[in-house]
Amino acid sequence: MVTEIQQMGSSQRLLERAQSSIRDGRVPAKIYNDPEIFELEKERIFARAYIYLAHESEIPDIGDYVVRYIADDSFIVVRDAQRKIQILFNCCGHRGMQVCRAEMGNATHFRCPYHGWTFKTTGALVGVPAAKEAYGDKLDKAKWGLRPVPRWDVYNGMIFASLDENAPPLTEYLGDMTWYLDLVTKRSEAGLEVVGAPHRWIVDANWKLGADNFIGDAYHTLMTHHSAVDLKLAPGDPKFAMYGVHVHAGNGHGLGMISAPPGMELPPFWGYPEEMVQSLQRSYPTPEQVAVARRINFLHGTVFPNFSVLNVMIAKDHRSAPTPMLTFRVWRPVGPDRTEVWSWFLVERDAPEWFKERSYQTYVHTFGTSGVFEQDDTENWRSITRMAKGLMARVHELNYQMGMDHLSLDPTWPGPGEAYPLDYAEANQRAFIRQWLQYMMNEI
Ligand code: FES
Ligand SMILES: [Fe+2]
Repeated sequence: MVTEIQQMGSSQRLLERAQSSIRDGRVPAKIYNDPEIFELEKERIFARAYIYLAHESEIPDIGDYVVRYIADDSFIVVRDAQRKIQILFNCCGHRGMQVCRAEMGNATHFRCPYHGWTFKTTGALVGVPAAKEAYGDKLDKAKWGLRPVPRWDVYNGMIFASLDENAPPLTEYLGDMTWYLDLVTKRSEAGLEVVGAPHRWIVDANWKLGADNFIGDAYHTLMTHHSAVDLKLAPGDPKFAMYGVHVHAGNGHGLGMISAPPGMELPPFWGYPEEMVQSLQRSYPTPEQVAVARRINFLHGTVFPNFSVLNVMIAKDHRSAPTPMLTFRVWRPVGPDRTEVWSWFLVERDAPEWFKERSYQTYVHTFGTSGVFEQDDTENWRSITRMAKGLMARVHELNYQMGMDHLSLDPTWPGPGEAYPLDYAEANQRAFIRQWLQYMMNEI
């Protein structure tokens, strides 16, 4: 007799089961640690969706480059001699060597370390050692440049790329999420700048858990980050993260925006300095965005599949005043139980110097690699991934039902998307899984 657990060993069966379970707000635990599911994710999601690579400010000058990844594939994101951004597959056409081995830098050319083929920052092959002797005049250099990524675009300085040449335009892919991304990326006419190199570290966790947490998990702050309340880094009400809106922005993207708990005064506009508040009032495309930003102290969100944003007002320690800080995240899939976390700190380019410094310090102490919040979160995701590895996880289902039956949409919400008047909800997580399933079942 074949047991139910044995039957559920096939990834196809698991996906079919997940499709029916999610209708009732349930998700098979196994999707968080399964080698077959992981390979399918690379094939069906990471080969097609838009993946965040870099911010324009990381390559301001001619020749500046950074090396970034879409799942296993490495790309050079470089500003060429005409100041145009090029995104080049970092793989030599001769024998497949990784051409650029540095993480970032400035170059006029990239030379392959194996036999020395040399490429311009446009990707054009311009140098072949001993070309005459080796190839006569038979090598058509025009055919052997570094391949450009099939599709890419920039939204408010954020560079996204897709391996699918038929991907929709980026703004269509982002959809209503652009309205919310504007809140954190259009606060000044000068735009954002990335400060320093991104922090990177490997965690023994599935990549979806970070995306799931940032898209809508305000609920965990009550338990996981209780120590932050005890340490007086966060508002004194342990349920502070409940008071906000939870917005599904379509296409699997979503976010939450948290305001002051009732009876508590917190500064408007995340507590940004006065000159920055004036700047955002000029820069935001609509007055509705100004009205929404006025009541935000914390904003967390995810662009499907693996790009997250966190813009929070928080204290770096109990002696310091709460300060806003902004971080971008990429949850790069490395294995079914391994994720490379990329974390950038960003600040408005024209912000006062004292503020830039204070905001950076806040990032480092709270959500940087060694930040108190970061460590709390990572331990949860590692544990979930370990539990999802076993046989019982094939039939064990997780509860994604929060807010399903008792929360209705807020008809007064001035922004796009489906907004729920409480951030203790899991509508975004369900929408993320539904989008994930559509990709996994080849329905998109
Ligand atoms: S592999 Fe790059 S030059 Fe041979
Ligand atoms: Fe957290």
